[in-house]
Amino acid sequence: MTDTPPSTVLADDTAYAEAVQLAVDSAAAYYADGTSTLDDDAYDRLVRGIQAYEEAHPEAVLPLSPTGKVAGGAVVGDVPHTVPMLSLDNVFGAEQLADWAAGLERRLGRPVTVWSVEPKLDGLAISARYRNGRLAQLVTRGDGTAGEDVSHAVGTIVGLPARLADAVTVELRGEVMMTASQFEEACAKRQAHDGTTFANPRSAAAGTLRAQDRPYVCELTFFGYGVLPPPGDDSELAVRLRELPHSEIMGWVAGQGVQTTVATPVAGIVADTLERVQERVGEIAAARAELAFGIDGIVIKCDLAADQAEAGFSSRAPRWAIAYKLPATEKITKLIGVEWNTGRTGIIAPRAVLEPVELDGSVVTYATLHNAADIRRRGLMLGDSVVVYKAGDVIPRVEAPVVHLRTGDEQPIEVPQVCPSCGDAIDASQERWRCVRGRACRAIASIGYAAGRDQLDIEGLAESRIQQLLDAGLITDFADLFFLAREQVLDLERMGETSTDNLLAAIERAKAQPLSRVFCALGVRGTGRSMSRRIARHFGSMDAIRAADAEAIQAVEGIGPEKAPVVVAELVELAGLIDKLVKAGVAMTEPGWTPPADPGAEAEASDTSELPLAGMSVVVTGAMSGELAALTRNQMNELIERAGGKASSSVSAKTSLLVAGEKAGSKRTKAESLGVRVVGPEEFAGLIGPFI
Ligand code: IVH
Repeated sequence: MTDTPPSTVLADDTAYAEAVQLAVDSAAAYYADGTSTLDDDAYDRLVRGIQAYEEAHPEAVLPLSPTGKVAGGAVVGDVPHTVPMLSLDNVFGAEQLADWAAGLERRLGRPVTVWSVEPKLDGLAISARYRNGRLAQLVTRGDGTAGEDVSHAVGTIVGLPARLADAVTVELRGEVMMTASQFEEACAKRQAHDGTTFANPRSAAAGTLRAQDRPYVCELTFFGYGVLPPPGDDSELAVRLRELPHSEIMGWVAGQGVQTTVATPVAGIVADTLERVQERVGEIAAARAELAFGIDGIVIKCDLAADQAEAGFSSRAPRWAIAYKLPATEKITKLIGVEWNTGRTGIIAPRAVLEPVELDGSVVTYATLHNAADIRRRGLMLGDSVVVYKAGDVIPRVEAPVVHLRTGDEQPIEVPQVCPSCGDAIDASQERWRCVRGRACRAIASIGYAAGRDQLDIEGLAESRIQQLLDAGLITDFADLFFLAREQVLDLERMGETSTDNLLAAIERAKAQPLSRVFCALGVRGTGRSMSRRIARHFGSMDAIRAADAEAIQAVEGIGPEKAPVVVAELVELAGLIDKLVKAGVAMTEPGWTPPADPGAEAEASDTSELPLAGMSVVVTGAMSGELAALTRNQMNELIERAGGKASSSVSAKTSLLVAGEKAGSKRTKAESLGVRVVGPEEFAGLIGPFI
């Protein structure tokens, strides 16, 4: 997050006029159906550039300029708002927030003692008018002074009841959006209907709210963030609503049966210092990636009615509130290529090559495209402008093409006719294409993975050596390694006595690796290192894992109904390999695990409550030192789990401890802003001493 956000530099009046037109067109599309030609970041940059130009050339200001009016404009509508629906001014970092708060306090002539801090919901502002407790009319924001009547959407919006608890006449203001699951469902419906999908939840919500004669209905979600009594109403309730602090008003709104963010991980809070405000900003930012709905910032408001009334409004925004913008998670860039690769399990997957774009703190050049069917469904073409999404630790993904930015030069995306790795046929019977040779296609990659440091840890088995063994016909999979005879290895080129003995000793040692590593070495689709540890610790033995059906596998944390059958099918496919490993004498149990008394019963999870990291979620970052210096990240994670903790790769509000070594970067900053305990490698080693 930077305190001085970049802006577009405008050279002269012509460039300024073009920029104003671009901003106007873009805002029009954004508020009409969410299909803006600019992403949020680019739009903000443009407006800041326009603002800077206007400050230097006040005589050149155009009446159309987006700086002078409420954001949003095109879909004006004909329903006047009782009170204008305004925008919020933005800040982009802690320093700017402090400056804004200081300015506000100067204006008030006193400190603000109660702030309200809540998520900035990334949807569409709406006004819901209730008469005598009944939902009478829904109006979009439009240009802020008048909006469009979208009352036809009543009944399709979760969180916006047809009747309030009390027979009151009020206007609720809030945001209409789509949750992740509503978005998925809406895309599936649209796909089935006309073969296209929505670009993102925001545009899906915008399109859905305004659509009147769609043959299918998509569900929306509403979160309230304010309420207005009718202007001029001096009933007891109206007076009370004008006098109550914002936080208490939100309690009243929830009490009327309207959804607010109170039940979400980013519920609004009140804070009595700016430090606490900043801390909550960090907590909300950290929770963002895991939320079921989109947020694009945090709104900080004066909680007290008196502060709000005295601060008042500028022409476009209240002075008593500010939006603290979070980095964009979505941007528009160009799809410049599609690469097809065969992975070590034989899956053939496309990868998008993008014009580099900065997203949520990193530069994205590649993004996943899932599979050929997905490319077809989204109607993607080479050269398309595409919406790319990335938040937190998620792998960047291409959402959809921005169809109205097409120039006509876009080309169809070629799909491979044969396996891009070995040239053999493709099994395209499932959505995920696979080389007909399966794992054998990329034997070198799967054996290399199995022998890797975090799996069987067989030293001296470089890729070139694996290739030699494969070429000599001595192995076809990694289980064959355990049957190699000394003479066979000695016969290979560049293999002397010592290197042969060292390699065979390393292979022998690998037989004693715990089940978690042996299971990981199998390379079961959808399971990496930490999932393998969870599976091994849950079942205790390979026999128990193999005996488990999809339902039993689902009892492992993080395995859902989609992944469980894949794991079961993979274990069937890998049966020959596993049998060979058993025959070779490879350990098939997890140390410390004891078979259950009743062989039919599931293994008892051992009692971990006495362990030093019991119940703690631990993240490691930076370079380890001292006793921990030689450990890989995976070994650190194994250590954490042996000591009763849960290893995680990202810092969130749920993190209990961050082990931060040299060169710890953003994770440390985030942990500090969240108030997560941070220890160095030495202190951590002291905490878990006997487990190292
Ligand atoms: S309060 C006078 N609170 O952000 C405007 N707005 O960029 C006061 N928004 O138009 C709005 N979450 O649609 C408020 N918790 C929240 C919000 C929120 C999202 C939207 C709202 C507003 C826009 C301004």
